[in-house]
Amino acid sequence: MRCAIIGYGNVGKASHILLSQKAQYIKQAYGVEIRVVAVADIMGSAIHEKGLKPEDLIPYAEKHGTVALSDYGLKGFIGPELLQKVKPDLVIEVTPTNIVNGEPGLSYIMTAIDIGAHVVTTNKGPFALKYREIMDKAKKQGVLVKLTGAVGGATRVLKYAEKCLAGEDIEDVRGILNGTTNYILTRMEEGISFEEALREAQRMGIAEADPTYDVEGIDAACKIAILANALLNENVTVHDISREGISKITKEDVAEALKSGETIKLIASAKELSVKPARIPVNHPLNVKGTLNAITFQTKNARELTIVGPGAGRFETASTVISDVIDIIESLRRGLSEQG
Ligand SMILES: NC(=O)c1ccc[n+]([C@@H]2O[C@H](COP(=O)([O-])OP(=O)(O)OC[C@H]3O[C@@H](n4cnc5c(N)ncnc54)[C@H](OP(=O)(O)O)[C@@H]3O)[C@@H](O)[C@H]2O)c1
Repeated sequence: MRCAIIGYGNVGKASHILLSQKAQYIKQAYGVEIRVVAVADIMGSAIHEKGLKPEDLIPYAEKHGTVALSDYGLKGFIGPELLQKVKPDLVIEVTPTNIVNGEPGLSYIMTAIDIGAHVVTTNKGPFALKYREIMDKAKKQGVLVKLTGAVGGATRVLKYAEKCLAGEDIEDVRGILNGTTNYILTRMEEGISFEEALREAQRMGIAEADPTYDVEGIDAACKIAILANALLNENVTVHDISREGISKITKEDVAEALKSGETIKLIASAKELSVKPARIPVNHPLNVKGTLNAITFQTKNARELTIVGPGAGRFETASTVISDVIDIIESLRRGLSEQG
């Protein structure tokens, strides 16, 4: 299976390393040889039909800031043209999230589908804006698009629902989908103000210099829009999600909730199409601390099931890329090419 990795940052590099580590296992277990024949970052690409190895490419990428200056590098050769030339079987799309127009991920994904390549991505932007359009196009073309790492990181909520809740009626999916805000709220429970907790999160590298995307609930809104589309058969975008962030919550609010045996969490709900702070009992399964994510499936027969785990991290997220790749290989072996 010839792969192209588009985006060679945290998740791109970690995915390349894990793919290389798991190549032997995948060959033995599934009889499929994985070969990374192209890698791209914003400045260019590297293309090598015999396969690019992470131990060769990453030092170049780290030294020069691009793969384009490596032995097989092509400066400036990126974008849909790259995929059209290389024609990989699988595109691993891990470029930055953009929720204004989904680019550059959207064009890469659409081009991959056009050329008949399967797609694995961790980029929520294109799906928070054009979920149905992408999935309908993939179905028409008979290719698979897997985006496990885009929602809840390593928790794999999409895959859990697809594999373990098949045939179940999912009535709601609700929970904590943003680790940064959960970290801030956790620290506020320990007695510091919103501003202090935010500065601390920025120092630790878990909040951006402009924290709006996290603290105003935009990131969680993107993810809940995707879950609503994928699991509740909605046809919504991030703009359909009603949203309130945590920037108006004070440490006094948090302390007062604690006195009543409750905690304040930023809760997203796929049924309500909302993201807002809510008080939940301290012994509730969604009361997780720090940067953890926690998602509860409310189902008709299995009732409530909660998954807890890391919502981010480069290897944590790259591990979802590997499981999506294996998922695609298994589907192809079974001769299925329809979206699950
Ligand atoms: N990191 C996590 O823990 C995590 C968790 C869940 C989901 N995600 C999602 O996964 C995706 C990747 O995250 P990341 O942390 O790896 O981001 P990152 O470190 O910023 O890497 C993004 C990569 O994409 C490249 N890029 C930008 N524009 C491009 C273009 N037009 N063509 C080709 N490559 C381009 C960047 O190149 P330059 O470096 O040269 O600009 C960089 O190599 C994002 O959508 C993110 O939201 C990340």
